[in-house]
Amino acid sequence: MRVTTDWDRYHRRVRVSQLLLWAVWRAYAGLLRGISFTGPIKIIELGCGTAYHTLQMTKLFQVDKVTLADFNPNVLKDTQKRLSGLKCEKEFLLQDLFSLDLSEKYDIVHSQGLLEHYTPEEQKKLICLHRDLLTPNGIAVILVPTPSLAYRLWRGIFEKLHLWIYPDETAISEAEFKAALESSGLEILKMKRCHLTEVGAVCRKGN
Ligand SMILES: C[S@@+](CC[C@H](N)C(=O)[O-])C[C@H]1O[C@@H](n2cnc3c(N)ncnc32)[C@H](O)[C@@H]1O
Repeated sequence: MRVTTDWDRYHRRVRVSQLLLWAVWRAYAGLLRGISFTGPIKIIELGCGTAYHTLQMTKLFQVDKVTLADFNPNVLKDTQKRLSGLKCEKEFLLQDLFSLDLSEKYDIVHSQGLLEHYTPEEQKKLICLHRDLLTPNGIAVILVPTPSLAYRLWRGIFEKLHLWIYPDETAISEAEFKAALESSGLEILKMKRCHLTEVGAVCRKGN
């Protein structure tokens, strides 16, 4: 039986791991290098957690609106507080992504730490959600853990110490990730290994 991640427990831990968030942001920044937009943009983060990376993006691009979606009320409440100083339009959606039905389109649709908690069929649905929310020239940015040596070592140590809190997490190989993105109608613009344990991709809607 699949044991799902306790996101409240995750969130209590992530409050103190600013260093980890910063390392992930470096990975995002590498993926976004060279990307530009002609005018102000809209961003949506799927499974936003802290929304740290959306917040960082507002420093890189001129942003009209950010939309943050997460199904955990505690996570979203904290995120709302964290983003209170942000000047652009903000929308917080307390919703399960599998029933998210938005007509609005976004220039950046992104997630990190989401897909790997779901089965391959569910991952495909989530990738299609990223795709369907894109404007014609928009980009999807997705980061997932990959079973590198560093990932296996890191996870092994945490499991031995009974500190591993993601029972449903399955690391995704680069080949599986690439195949899942392409078979969901996304064209990969950039794909790279990030900070030893993750792989990230920048994609746009394929023709
Ligand atoms: C690993 S965390 C994301 C971390 C985030 N990138 C950050 O920087 O804080 C995954 C988030 O996705 C949310 N999540 C997982 N499955 C979801 C679903 N089906 N619908 C909405 N939110 C979901 C969880 O509540 C959690 O906050």
